[in-house]
Amino acid sequence: MIKGDSPFTPGKPVPLELFVGRKNKLEELIHYMKQSSSGKQENVFLIGNRGIGKSSLANFLRSIAEKEANMVGIHVFLGGVKTTEELVSHVFEKILNESRGENWFKKIQGLFGDYVRSVGLFGISLTFEPPKDKLKGLTKNFPQALESIITEIESDKDGLFIALDDINGLANSSDFANWYKSFVDEVAINFNDFPVFIMLIGLPDRRDALFHHQESLTRVFNIIEIDSLSDTEVEEFYTKAFNSVDVEIHENAMDLIKNFSGGLPVVMHEIGDAIFYINQDDLIDVDDALDGVFEAATRIGTKYLEPRVYNTISSNLYQSILRKIGNSMSQVFTRKEMVKELNEKEKKVFDNFVSKLKQLGIIQTISGMKGVYSFVNPIYPVYIQLRTLQEEEESK
Ligand SMILES: Nc1ncnc2c1ncn2[C@@H]1O[C@H](COP(=O)(O)OP(=O)(O)O)[C@@H](O)[C@H]1O
Ligand SMILES: [Mg+2]
Repeated sequence: MIKGDSPFTPGKPVPLELFVGRKNKLEELIHYMKQSSSGKQENVFLIGNRGIGKSSLANFLRSIAEKEANMVGIHVFLGGVKTTEELVSHVFEKILNESRGENWFKKIQGLFGDYVRSVGLFGISLTFEPPKDKLKGLTKNFPQALESIITEIESDKDGLFIALDDINGLANSSDFANWYKSFVDEVAINFNDFPVFIMLIGLPDRRDALFHHQESLTRVFNIIEIDSLSDTEVEEFYTKAFNSVDVEIHENAMDLIKNFSGGLPVVMHEIGDAIFYINQDDLIDVDDALDGVFEAATRIGTKYLEPRVYNTISSNLYQSILRKIGNSMSQVFTRKEMVKELNEKEKKVFDNFVSKLKQLGIIQTISGMKGVYSFVNPIYPVYIQLRTLQEEEESK
């Protein structure tokens, strides 16, 4: 059998047709987005942990903004960006590229002056590289610059949708915080009608950092936080994804992978992708599923647990406690049960080790339950167990 492409996209925003869940959050987001398209500038801060699905949600919302609210949508990734000016130039560059082939392209191109160049074979994309002083001016007059663009596109489009993703570097800059605050104030004072929706996207602690620099931003942003998917949504996803490549999945196999996904989108894709390549026929059974879980555990463990745990804890006692914690491959463990498995030396350092794992973001306490711990990712104990088995194999 020749395998086509995997429908799974670990680490990349999910394609629109496989997007699941987020119903309530979408409703709320669409509300703000539509407010914007009718002229009231809105600001949203979308937060959530790594791999929980922020970029995917932004991508999905953007397509709604384009199709249903007739907006021009851009989604800018600002991973390495450290200054407000860089951000501004990225925003304009994206708008420019997004407008290619549209009626208004020539009109807005004029606004950018001589600083637009086409790059790549056949001029595939455009770069916008204004000189320093020009960019400073654009940054300072950001509302006016956006307003000029809106004026040019007005007869075709109802507004601008701007998603600023991975603002992690910028959130720690007081310059950015203050710039954003003045942007919002100026818009409020100078423009009655400003159909621009802006959504910042980042980790939860980035919001705290930003608001710390400029407290009045707390009143500017509507915070939307996203969390794990429900089991039903995970099941819906796997059904859609495997159906799209004409593969069926046995009920028991489904239960197993649902369990190990723990509602975490990034894990769901790693498991699905692993199974896709392991499976040899048109039905996924429990064996395929289990092999897929092990393979995904290896991928995820190598990426997250090796650098954060195995390379940072050198103590043999800690290593041996870790092996015992992972022994059952279960996501939850209790102090009471664990202590029974430990020797005297291990018992003495158990609490310290547990705090260390918490600090490293590997486990969490369950609120209101003393002495009960849970791995943040149900696949972590699987990796720990696999690694232990491998070590035993090697020491034979
Ligand atoms: N709603 C969803 N439905 C299906 N897959 C999703 C969904 N959200 C995220 N994913 C998948 O989960 C992984 C992490 O998503 P991503 O949007 O990159 O998260 P974040 O931006 O929060 O780090 C990606 O592989 C993506 O394809
Ligand atoms: Mg992302």
